[in-house]
This record gives sequence, structure tokens and C-alpha cells, in this order.
Amino acid sequence: MTGSNQGAHSVANASHTTEALRGAPEPTTEHHKLDLLRFTTAGSVDDGKSTLIGRLLYDSKAILEDTWAAVERASNQRGDSYIDLALLTDGLRAEREQGITIDVAYRYFTTPKRKFIIADCPGHEQYTRNMATGASTSNLAIILIDARRGVVTQSKRHGFIASLLQIPHLLVAGNKMDLVDYDETVYQSIMDEYRAFASKLAVQDVVYIPISALRGDNVVNKTDAMPWYDGPTLMHHLENVNVTAGRNLIDFRFPIQMAIRPHQNFRGFAGQIASGSIRPGEEVVVLPSGKVSAVRSIVTYDGDVEEAIAGDSVVLTLEDEIDVSRGDMIARRHNLPQAADQFECILCWMGEEPLNPQTGYVLQHTTRQVRAFVAELNYRIDIDTLHRVPAQTLHLNEIGRVKLATTQPLFYDPYSINRATGGFILIDPYTNNTVAAGIIRRKASELDEIVPPAAVVRKATNVTWEEAAIGRTVREERNGHKAAVLWFTGLSGSGKSTIARLLEQRLFSLGCQTFFLDGDNVRHGLNGDLGFSAEDRKENIRRVAEVARLAFEHGDLTICTFISPFREDRAFARSLVEEGRFVEIYVRCSMDTVKSRDPKGLYVRAERGEIPEFTGVSSPYEEPVTPELILDTDILNPEESVGRIVAALRSLGLLSHDL
Ligand code: ADX
Repeated sequence: MTGSNQGAHSVANASHTTEALRGAPEPTTEHHKLDLLRFTTAGSVDDGKSTLIGRLLYDSKAILEDTWAAVERASNQRGDSYIDLALLTDGLRAEREQGITIDVAYRYFTTPKRKFIIADCPGHEQYTRNMATGASTSNLAIILIDARRGVVTQSKRHGFIASLLQIPHLLVAGNKMDLVDYDETVYQSIMDEYRAFASKLAVQDVVYIPISALRGDNVVNKTDAMPWYDGPTLMHHLENVNVTAGRNLIDFRFPIQMAIRPHQNFRGFAGQIASGSIRPGEEVVVLPSGKVSAVRSIVTYDGDVEEAIAGDSVVLTLEDEIDVSRGDMIARRHNLPQAADQFECILCWMGEEPLNPQTGYVLQHTTRQVRAFVAELNYRIDIDTLHRVPAQTLHLNEIGRVKLATTQPLFYDPYSINRATGGFILIDPYTNNTVAAGIIRRKASELDEIVPPAAVVRKATNVTWEEAAIGRTVREERNGHKAAVLWFTGLSGSGKSTIARLLEQRLFSLGCQTFFLDGDNVRHGLNGDLGFSAEDRKENIRRVAEVARLAFEHGDLTICTFISPFREDRAFARSLVEEGRFVEIYVRCSMDTVKSRDPKGLYVRAERGEIPEFTGVSSPYEEPVTPELILDTDILNPEESVGRIVAALRSLGLLSHDL
């Protein structure tokens, strides 16, 4: 997606430097930035969002005369007794709908105190979309509650998303107060309910204001209608709220929008600084290539500058000739983002079609697009209770935690550290619709699973891999079955060895080639130098997994019985053989049962403290998440377990049915 097409397009379009900047979202210098407040508005249908924006623009004299005249005319034509301020923003919406591609329209206005950017979004349930594209840079979110209807799920959802996106300020406006006779008790009971909910959120600052957007009460001008309220007006709050909170001004991240080469002597990279700041002379790294250089100059629409900060659209030139294209990222040499291809994320689903874990999506992260898959859906969040609930999919507006895998690594920071490089959207590749907004919490631990343990760094350098004279497929043909690694995992005493021994006898009698690796036995010789620390267990598994691989290549049904308590280590073993050939068999058994069996008397001793780091007692066991087979040995006897394994091997196509 980041391929040559876009690169070619970019260069062709960029006839000279300033040309490229013209289309940039916010050509700015740093000076006015501190006076800029970005905010979003949210409400459900008819909560009065458009009217509020119209009122803000009108009362603060922020609209142009001719626009106003047009609105007046339209209102009069409709015979309205008042001027419909919503027409101001609805007119904007129509434009946007013709524009088709953008999800959020930005409205700019200025008062003597401050500049404002409103990320405006279509009403009803579409708010999540806005959050994704507009709100993650917002300083403040206005949540509108219709005083007649009170708190609805949607008002909570918006608060939750604001909290999730770490918007530092929340302004909860009780709107349409005129329609409840400006009644203080109505207002207070709504706000009490919302306060109780908001106390569970992670928003630093929540302010409550009673207004009527239609009548203009407490929007820009203070009203006489609610003498019981002595707080600020909505505009007063917008003009005075602290805008520096929530921005990352430390970590310099510069996602490249395009490379510019107007003539032989100029080569620069255009983009908007996502976070942090930069000055000429600073050492930088270009990702993913890892090439190091230094910033030669920072070019802006107004000429070269000595410093640029988050939000500035600039062109950087570097001291060295380096190939950089759209989707790459420039960061400071000693402050790099992380790289990963599997992530724990929170997704806000906004597609009409529910999440399909079978489908690939396009993930847009800064200026970069990669393919992505939802590898796991961990749970959904119930917005009313904020509880986690099991889920098979996510529907429109649902929020859930997922594990996401991308086909190429992303350069990211966790959202909690950097909102600019920790957020992304998912796009349906067929319809091109944005279907989800997401934030990266951290890299998924599973990522480490495919990375070989440190000990695997090879010391032997002048060695080559000798192809076997007789390959695995030839052996498999003669054996009459496929080779596979049958990996038994489970607590000590769960029955792994017992079942495995019986299984080997059965397979042998069926004429199969087998090979057996058992934890206790291996620890007498090959792994006699290892104990039971996490590190030693990792090395234990690494070695036996390598041996299992050799046996696998030899065509054997390779049976391995190791507690192998860590997912990461098991995933490593799995990574050594081809897909479909690793059969993870979780021998599951309750602690009570293993303790009562205690064949080697180890649990008694472990509980007396005589055996340190004993699995299940003083060392953890991480259950498999998606093993090929689970055997509950609390219930099944060893013969039954063997029966299930053989059946599974047949259905996996490893053993033929006539064997
Ligand atoms: S693993 O954790 O590294 O996979 P492995 O399967 O090789 O363990 O060895 C487990 C066997 O070692 C157990 O069945 C038990 O007999 C013995 N053992 C001795 N000390 C421990 C311990 N601290 N934790 C678990 N098993 C232990």
C-alpha cells in the first residue's frame, strides 16, 4: 500500500516546495499554537449539536456576514419564528457529503482570546468515526445531553471514548434547559447521574454547564434564566481551559507525507510533526531503513525556521542523500518509537458490517498503510456498566479489546504515551470505508513468541545447513503418515507422560514411526545443566524443540511431554515446524487432583517450601489459549485420552483413516 504508486504520485504533484505545503492541513508556526483549542462535539440525534455550533459562531461573531444572511433567508423561507443556527453547520455537512472522502469536517473560528478548531461530525451514532480522525488530537470534548431525555447510553459512550482517547477535558452540557423551564432539580439529577458514571473514567477534568443552544443561554452570554448557576459560560470555559495538557512535546515523530524533489539541488520530506520538536543539526534516523543523518533545514511556507513542533507542517531536508518515501518515519536518533507487528488494541467498531476476524483490513497508522488482521477478540466493553463481556464479534459502535496482527511492522508508541503515533483506523479494502478506530495499548506478548530466545544467537559462524540425503516427504510416503510434533503441556502430575507413553504404544502398533522426548528424562542428560528458573525452562524448551524439529524432519510423530508453562516458549517450539504440523495438547487437570495424585511426592514438598519455583505452587502456569486439543484428565482416563488424540490426528490429516 505504501508502494511505488503513491510515491510516483507524490513526486509528480510536488512541483516545488511550497506547492506541497499548500495542501497540508495546518500550515502553522509555533507561536499561535498555544492559543489554539481543538474540540469535538458529541450528542445523539437532536441533542442540538449543530445548533450549539451555530450559536457559538454567531454569538462570537465568528461567521461571515454573507453566510449569516443566507441562513436568515433560509430560516425565513421555512417560516421559522427563530433563525435556525443548525443551518450553518448543516450547510457545511452537505459540502462534506459531496466531498465524499473525508470523515470529519473542521470548522475554524477565532475570538480575541483564542483560535478554535471544531472537529465536526455527522450526528447520531457516527461519533466514533469522528473520534478516530478528529478527536484524538482534541483538547476537549463537549458532550451534549438533552435535558428532557437525560443521560442515555450514547452520552456515556461518548464520555468513555473521550476517556479512552485521553482527551484531557470533558465539558458536559445540559442542553435545552428552556424546555424544562430552566429547572435546577432536573439539571442536577441528570448531572449527578453523569458524575457517578464519569467518576469511573480516566478523564482529568470534567465541567458541567446548563445551557440552551437555541436561546443562547450560557453559550457565549450569561443568562438570567438560571440564577441558580454561577459557573462560567460554555465559551468562557473554551477560551480559558488549559490547552497544553495531553500533548506529547518530547518524542519527535515525523511521518512522511511525501518526498519532494523539485530540482536537482533540493530534496526534502514533507509532513506534519506528529509529536515532539526538532531543530536543524539534530541527528535523526529514518525508519524503517534505519539510516542515520542530521536535519539540515526546516522549511515552512514562511521560509526556514529554527525550530518546529508538534502540529507544524514542514519540509525537512537532511544532510545525507537517503531514500525516503511516504509512510516512512523520521525520529531522533536516541529516541526511537517501538516496532512491532502484533498489538493489544482497543477498537471502536464503526462499520455497518460487524467485525469479521476472517477478513484482512487496511490499517492506516500516521501516513502508513499496512494489511492487518484481528487475531483475537478478547472481550467487549459494556458501555453502561463498563464491564467486560465475552463476544464473538463487534457490531456498530461497540468497543472491544483485540489482538491485531499486521503484515509489516509499525513504528508506534503506546497511545498512553503518544496519541499521535498510538492511534490508527481500519479500512475495509473493498468498500474503502473506515470500519474501526483503534488505539495501541502495547505490543502483544505473542510477538516475542516468534522471536527466538537470546540463547539461540549462533556462535558458530562458518556452518552451512546440509540438506538431508533422504528428505522428509520421501520418508512420510514410506511411513504412510505425516510427520508432526505432538506437544503435551500441563501441570506436573496432570498425566502427560502416562498418556504419551500409552499413545506411543498405540501409534507403534499402527505401524507409525515415533520419537519420544520426556521432560524428566531429558533433564537427566541433554538438559542436566538446567534448573527451573524461567530462564532455564526457556532454554530447556528451546533445546528440546530443536531436537523435536530434527525428529520431525526425520518423518517421525514426535511426542514431547514438558510442563512448558510459558506460552512464549511453546510458541517458539511451534514456530520451528511448518503450519499444521504442531499439535498442542493441553493436558488439563485441577490443582486439587494433581495434588491428590502427587505421584512423585513433589507437591507436598513444594508446599513445605522445599522445592522453589514449583509450577502451580510457586511458579506460574500459563494455560494455552488455542491448543489443538484439550484433555480433561479430571474426567478422562488415559485410554480415552489416547482415543481422542488418535481421532484428532486423523481429522488433522496427519494419520490416514485406514491406519
Ligand atoms: S519445564 O517447566 O521446563 O517444561 P519439565 O517438563 O522439563 O519442566 O520438567 C518437569 C519435571 O521436573 C516435573 O514433572 C517434576 O518431576 C520435575 N520438577 C522438579 N522441580 C520442579 C519444579 N520446580 N517445577 C516443576 N517441575 C519440577
